[in-house]
Amino acid sequence: MTQTMASTKSLESLIEERYSCRGFLPDGIDRTEIEKMIELAERAPSWKNAQSYKIVALTGEKKEALCRDLIERARSGAEPAAEIPYETGYPSSIRRRMMDLAVAFFAQLGIDRKDKEAREKQTLRNFNGFGAPVMLFAFIPAGLREWTILDLGVFFGHLTLVVRSHGYESILQAALAAWPDIVRKHTGVGAEYTLVVGMSIGKADPSEPANHFKSQRAPASEILQIL
Ligand SMILES: Cc1cc2nc3c(=O)[nH]c(=O)nc-3n(C[C@H](O)[C@H](O)[C@H](O)COP(=O)(O)O)c2cc1C
Repeated sequence: MTQTMASTKSLESLIEERYSCRGFLPDGIDRTEIEKMIELAERAPSWKNAQSYKIVALTGEKKEALCRDLIERARSGAEPAAEIPYETGYPSSIRRRMMDLAVAFFAQLGIDRKDKEAREKQTLRNFNGFGAPVMLFAFIPAGLREWTILDLGVFFGHLTLVVRSHGYESILQAALAAWPDIVRKHTGVGAEYTLVVGMSIGKADPSEPANHFKSQRAPASEILQIL
């Protein structure tokens, strides 16, 4: 096997075997390793090399304190107040994928779709980052919009794979951006930035049933036209 083929294969398996991790072990990640992973992900392309993202990482007691506030807010039944509004206009063909995902995911966890309490309990786990030792919050400068969020998406696409190449797993979480006032209080980031999304990172807990769930993908023929 040529070197190119070998490295292609390892990149393919990093991509193929990635999943959103929903159960972490408590083992921490060194500060220098967090920096290294972010630096690698920063190799991602961005509009005119703007790299407009601001990433704040919380660990240890700082992360725990933030999570306590998020859990309290979630338990209060407060509506999400994300700064980037959630999409509402999904066409039915796309909504179908989201429904299929939810049905398959809850079946994997042995949760009846009609069991609202069990579903809510699972959702609540978002707010402690599923036990991850590291939680990231991603901001963009206030006033910037779609193109900058696209840059951030490319950055996170890189980061998910970089994290795996270091032996960790991750999950992107819109849930962590539901109440920006709490995130601002604990990160010290002011209104000059817009909060976009959070991410939890750590070692996967192999005993977590959610970590054995493999989500499906549409075949290329559904999303691709080659003319
Ligand atoms: C921008 C973004 C936000 C997400 N927010 C959440 C979230 O708040 N909670 C959650 O459990 N999963 C969240 N996910 C994970 C998706 O549900 C997941 O990527 C999708 O179902 C495909 O599954 P996979 O990542 O395991 O392949 C998010 C993913 C993205 C890209």
